[in-house]
Amino acid sequence: MDFFKKVNIYLANLTVMYKKVHNLHWNVQGRIFFGLHLKYDELYREFQDKIDEVAERLLSLGHTPVSSYREVLAIATIQERESKPVECEESVRIFLEDLEDLIEDSYDLTELCDDQDDPAGADLFTGYIADFEKHRWMFRALLGENAADTELDDDDEQAEKDAQGGSNASQTKSSAKSDGNGKSKK
Ligand SMILES: [Fe+2]
Repeated sequence: MDFFKKVNIYLANLTVMYKKVHNLHWNVQGRIFFGLHLKYDELYREFQDKIDEVAERLLSLGHTPVSSYREVLAIATIQERESKPVECEESVRIFLEDLEDLIEDSYDLTELCDDQDDPAGADLFTGYIADFEKHRWMFRALLGENAADTELDDDDEQAEKDAQGGSNASQTKSSAKSDGNGKSKK
């Protein structure tokens, strides 16, 4: 695929994220509402800045940035979210999942810029990698506090299973519980 088409898809994804983070900012509910509401406020402003930077980078290279919602939604690979309430932890998982896509795409674009001797482009997307990876660390840290019991339970079950080794009855019981947790956590 043409490099500039890829940058426009990236721009479309940033545009979807701008609205999607507003969605989380408005619809998040739960005991850490105030912290997340403020954090999502900060993040959608960051997406707004990045949208402008990427669009103007395209223009600097003689290409037209995707500039209408219809065109954005036609090429974006990140999905919008319905307008409905979302629980705090679920909102973080939604954001982290999209962040992974953005990090991966930022690495791809950095590499492509390097390949075609575009240090300014590589610098731009490298900076975004740093920004997005910092957000990933922070949101994962948040989940680590909130989801610690679930994670510990899974680990404890596995350790118990390993220790008991020969007991078929307890292995079956632990496996069933692990499977259930695994599916619900997804
Ligand atoms: Fe607001």
